[in-house]
Amino acid sequence: MYTISHIRREDAEWPGARKRLSNGRLLKGLCRGDVAADPIRRIYLADASGVLVAETTKRPKRVVGLLIYEVTDEYEPGPSLYVHVLCSRLPGVGTALMRKAQDVAAELSLRWLRLGALDHVIGYYRKLGFRATSHPQCREVGAVARAADRIAHLRFVSHNEAAADPRIQAARAAAIAHGQNLGEMILCLPTLSKNSR
Ligand SMILES: CC(C)(COP(=O)(O)OP(=O)(O)OC[C@H]1O[C@@H](n2cnc3c(N)ncnc32)[C@H](O)[C@@H]1OP(=O)(O)O)[C@@H](O)C(=O)NCCC(=O)NCCS
Repeated sequence: MYTISHIRREDAEWPGARKRLSNGRLLKGLCRGDVAADPIRRIYLADASGVLVAETTKRPKRVVGLLIYEVTDEYEPGPSLYVHVLCSRLPGVGTALMRKAQDVAAELSLRWLRLGALDHVIGYYRKLGFRATSHPQCREVGAVARAADRIAHLRFVSHNEAAADPRIQAARAAAIAHGQNLGEMILCLPTLSKNSR
């Protein structure tokens, strides 16, 4: 069992949480592989608007998942909650954190979640509903969707392994031919889909 706490940049707990999460060992244990090794992801904490931390309820509490986000208006189609890092070491925790991030975005009246997916998790994020598009209603070009569907069943342990796979490379090239980066993904919040019909 675990609980998810939401720590915002303006909260009194933020400096402590940030210090704790800056700890390379924690990220390494949680995120593994490329994500843990990527120092830029740690630097994202400096710009973060908040973090969602999943911890076991049983003492001693253990961090079993983490999502770092930033509220930004830097990307199309408009102000969004950008997920910089998502890591989980218990099945289902990553998905639960992403659902919680959607709640946070809805509270902030944001219409989109956004992220830049590493190659080995493109299929994972598609499963969660993210799409490679900047269309305000998250509509994806047909050829881009087909290219992504062709690789959806593949599983890789790391970004490097996925990036070297010719099937991933072909899917990426097909998306680029339609002006889309397969890893630049958005998720429309359900309320937007309803209101926009
Ligand atoms: C990617 C990650 C966050 C997923 O965490 P999670 O949601 O707790 O994962 P689960 O094991 O519960 O998997 C949820 C579903 O996604 C699928 N899935 C998991 N990893 C996947 C992947 N790399 N590609 C495609 N699907 C994947 C699972 O098969 C499962 O499918 P199901 O619901 O049909 O059974 C976690 O594996 C992780 O922390 N990885 C290392 C760090 C990382 O790469 N983070 C992403 C980049 S920031």
